[in-house]
Amino acid sequence: MTLIRLDKFISERTEYSRSQIKQLASKGNITLNGCAVRKNDIKIDSDKDRVSVCGKEISSQRFRYFLVNKPEGYVCSTSDNDGKSVLELIPPELRTKGLFPAGRLDKDSLGALLITDDGELAHRILSPKNHIPKIYIVKLDRPFQSKYIDIFKNELKLTGGETCLPAKVRKAENSDKLAFVELLEGKYHQVKRMFAAVGNHVDILMRISLGGLILPETLGFGQCMELLHKDVENLFIRPDFDLFCQSLSPFFSAILINK
Ligand code: URA
Repeated sequence: MTLIRLDKFISERTEYSRSQIKQLASKGNITLNGCAVRKNDIKIDSDKDRVSVCGKEISSQRFRYFLVNKPEGYVCSTSDNDGKSVLELIPPELRTKGLFPAGRLDKDSLGALLITDDGELAHRILSPKNHIPKIYIVKLDRPFQSKYIDIFKNELKLTGGETCLPAKVRKAENSDKLAFVELLEGKYHQVKRMFAAVGNHVDILMRISLGGLILPETLGFGQCMELLHKDVENLFIRPDFDLFCQSLSPFFSAILINK
């Protein structure tokens, strides 16, 4: 049993402030297990009780996790000063305060992005110590060369002098201009800069996995799905890069070829 004040429970999971919750309760717009509650300071059991505000049930989960398939043109920030924010990809009825993108994709990059309000989880994902593997598929300007495999494996130096951790790269089976890359870190524009360092150019970049959390084939560009806390634990699993690329190559290659 986890006892918590009703207004705290609602304010942690919605955009309503405590004063708005008080008003909503006084008007009978908050129900507890189907019955209107007029008092906002009663204690509820967040494991069992069902709370609705204006007819909409509030998820008992403390933190929210959304996997988004980012289209181009959206920026990974919480404000839209630099363009449309990725937060706009969360449907308004699911958008709550405190959400932010846990990680970055460039404005023109596509694919898997986690949006959450769980600061501790974001810290675990982004901490350079944890080396969460991220897999990308890229469309290159010039054909893939097999020498990239050893160059990426051997701590490639970027222009500016930064050294990359060993990374994996392989050509996709059905095109000599498509490649998969696995990174264990996230330097600024890293994938683009790695290919630039070997004399190639990334035309399109799409992230297809964050740890063992794989972008579902059913999640189109611009769509988002809510995850449970237990799904999020997949972030800390490392998929087998070669098996992963073999099994997902046909689907993701087709997306990039048709872009
Ligand atoms: N590397 C890049 O160059 N861009 C991204 O968006 C992600 C990784």
